[in-house]
Amino acid sequence: CGIVGYIGGQEATPVIVEGLKKLEYRGYDSAGIATLMTGEAGIRRSEGKLINLENLLREQPLHGTIGIGHTRWATHGRPSEINAHPHKAGHIIVVHNGIIENYLQLREQLRQAGHVFKSETDTEVISHLIEETLKTEPDFEKAVRLALTALHGAYAVCVLSEKEPKTLIAAKLGSPMVVGLGAEEFFVASDIPAILAHTREMVFMEDGEMAVFRDNGVSFSTIAGTSLDKKPRHIDWSPLMAEKGGYKHFMLKEIHEQPRAVRDTIAGRLLESEGDVYLEGLNFNDCQLAAVKRIIIIACGTSWHAALVGKFYLEGHCRIPVEVDIASEFRYRNPVIDESTMVMVISQSGETADTLAALREAKARGAMNMAICNVVDSSIARESAGVIYTHAGPEIGVASTKAFVTQLTALYLFTIRMGRSIGTIDLAAGQSMIAALKHVPALLEEVLTLNSLTEKIARKYMNARDFLYLGRGKNFPIALEGALKLKEISYIHAEGYAAGEMKHGPIALIDEEVPVVMLVPRSSNFDKTLSNMEEVSARGGRVIALCTTGAEDIAGRVEDFIEIPSLCEDLDPLLLSVPLQLLAYHVAVLKGTDVDQPRNLAKSVTVE
Ligand code: G6P
Repeated sequence: CGIVGYIGGQEATPVIVEGLKKLEYRGYDSAGIATLMTGEAGIRRSEGKLINLENLLREQPLHGTIGIGHTRWATHGRPSEINAHPHKAGHIIVVHNGIIENYLQLREQLRQAGHVFKSETDTEVISHLIEETLKTEPDFEKAVRLALTALHGAYAVCVLSEKEPKTLIAAKLGSPMVVGLGAEEFFVASDIPAILAHTREMVFMEDGEMAVFRDNGVSFSTIAGTSLDKKPRHIDWSPLMAEKGGYKHFMLKEIHEQPRAVRDTIAGRLLESEGDVYLEGLNFNDCQLAAVKRIIIIACGTSWHAALVGKFYLEGHCRIPVEVDIASEFRYRNPVIDESTMVMVISQSGETADTLAALREAKARGAMNMAICNVVDSSIARESAGVIYTHAGPEIGVASTKAFVTQLTALYLFTIRMGRSIGTIDLAAGQSMIAALKHVPALLEEVLTLNSLTEKIARKYMNARDFLYLGRGKNFPIALEGALKLKEISYIHAEGYAAGEMKHGPIALIDEEVPVVMLVPRSSNFDKTLSNMEEVSARGGRVIALCTTGAEDIAGRVEDFIEIPSLCEDLDPLLLSVPLQLLAYHVAVLKGTDVDQPRNLAKSVTVE
């Protein structure tokens, strides 16, 4: 989603619409804008691309020098005009990015207090909550502060009140927000590109902060009310640099977004005291889940690698047999399926032709079916009986990164739900799985500090002709994914292999020319993988070992050593994925390839 707000001397509408256009790359399915004229708000919203909103504004123009606008990428509630922002309750108008985790509970309370909701969004709760708060706290600014303290989750919000036509309030907790300072005018946006054309003096808001704009200036404070002295920074980025958040490539930006992406995947879904999770779009009750006797997970490319990890999660914790298939293979192999088979498809885009066709095939054969998808309302999401959205946000780099890590997260969430509903995961086990999941975002942040080390390693091996990636168990698919990343963007031949299987073939490839990336986290098969590593070293292979903390002794036995924090056997694969993404990225950059749009590949393959 994207937010743009304006207060100053110009007409707000063109400033906001132009700003929203600059945020289009973040994905959108609907858009809207509100301006205040003489106390009365004008609101225009439309489904689909921004051009629809522009056309509407041409027919029904909006005037005023204060306004807020929004492009939406659906999380709660399907894309539609009704669900598009701004949302108005009484005289309060709100646009919002992020996810309000306790919205169901708040909505119920507000309903009981007589509020009528028009949309299915979590955002509408915010406007009603502020309206409700104003009944006891008539000061607009104070009421917004109070209402915001009741929200759990992540947000960046802009709020207007028809009764205060010269005030705009913005606040941030977990979703990005930047304020632009102009000459007697102010801008606020969820990202720099939206306002770069107007000012380069920007104040970056931190979590828990609020900005109150009045026609005579802006004041910053904490949401609790302590005033802050925030200094602007001069941003000299070019517009394209700004779109990439200052990163050289979308891929690097997306790699760095992973902590946030996983936070969004789990946001609002963890029922900690019950040791269970809530998956809003799953649409299967305990009884239906108990009827599942077998699961087939189907996907392509990176999503297929996620599926392979999912097999370990589901078989390990739920004791249900799981098969994993490549979509283009599944379709044509006359698969054995009945009503007790759950077919799960995984697709970032939700549009991959092979995966969609496999889903249709499974449905035609009477399977229960569900999807793990990133793009809301995509074909696969629409056609599946149940769907778990990954909430990774739009992924632009062709090589998938944050989509993969969030797919693994979604698979883990589904495993918890399944195991809890059929009783293979007890309360304590559910609680500890959830506790572990909650550590993932912070640990991903830690792993990202390996960026410069992976660049150094990339420099050393960038001229190799072939790479091998070896791992066992849940880390075998991670080895496949590491190799795929390298192939995709650096065009170096790379193979992922099950470490134990290496001796049955690929070992013949090993000599002092071939870098071998070994995944050796402390796990139940640590010693076995270590032996495989020795087999490589003994043949002169150049080992790059990825270990979890506590395996320092390996460092002296390999050519390069990357240490990541250890979490648990189930979730270490998420952490291990990051240095592999970074390694591929840096090799590609050093080789000068087109990282975001590698040759011959497409982000979403809609042909068979
Ligand atoms: C293409 C992309 C891959 C992706 C695969 C599956 O080949 O280049 O990065 O993994 O499609 O895409 P999906 O959107 O179905 O996950």
